Amino acid sequence: ERQIWLTRHGESTDNIIGRIGGNACLSAKGRRFAECLAKFISKQKIAFRQQQLAKHKADVEAEQQSDPSAIPAPEPPEKNFHVWTSLLQRTIDTVEHIDPKEFGIMHIRFLNEIYAGLYEEMTYREIEQLYPNEYNARKNNKLYYRYPGMGGESYLDVIHRVNPLIVELERMTDNILIVTHQVVLRIILAYFLDVDKESVPDMPVPLHTIYCLEPKPYGTKLTKWRYDE
Ligand code: F6P
Repeated sequence: ERQIWLTRHGESTDNIIGRIGGNACLSAKGRRFAECLAKFISKQKIAFRQQQLAKHKADVEAEQQSDPSAIPAPEPPEKNFHVWTSLLQRTIDTVEHIDPKEFGIMHIRFLNEIYAGLYEEMTYREIEQLYPNEYNARKNNKLYYRYPGMGGESYLDVIHRVNPLIVELERMTDNILIVTHQVVLRIILAYFLDVDKESVPDMPVPLHTIYCLEPKPYGTKLTKWRYDE
């Protein structure tokens, strides 16, 4: 039993004006989401531990009933809880209120948003007006389209970049919260929920929505929370 929590960063000042990429800070609303996220995840950590202890107690009682001379198993240790963000300011600010004594916080470049090369910090409208061919090329083939300019990426590039983290997530038995970006979140969710590659670029993953994945023997259970203010 373990949980993988996923969310995008809180709303950034660039989100408000529709600018892609960049390294903006959170808006006032984004900062309120960050405060709420810290409380939420702390509560979830406590709830998980309580469930784990309740299950342990039930197991011990059942064993005692079938064999009163059995020595009860000791309480299981509490799972570690990791928090991973990207290296971009908006994800780092989103975990600002999470207590580093309770959670192991790490910032990882592989979780950065798709890099839009020459079009970093432009709006879709500006791209459409200045580079209509490129705009349409992406619209018609979002999965394969690679942004022009140094370091420009496609969805496929990001899928390859994120893959080692997914391997790590598969292996890990601890709980984790990942605070990342629209494209990376789509890719991680799609992997665990078996969404085919072609549909990944169009998956709706709104801001201020928290996803919980629980890998089970029959597949992955998904629960969603929406922060509403
Ligand atoms: O607009 C926020 C954002 O994270 C951008 O930084 C990024 O380029 C974009 O979303 C990715 O979404 P899409 O692939 O749908 O354009």
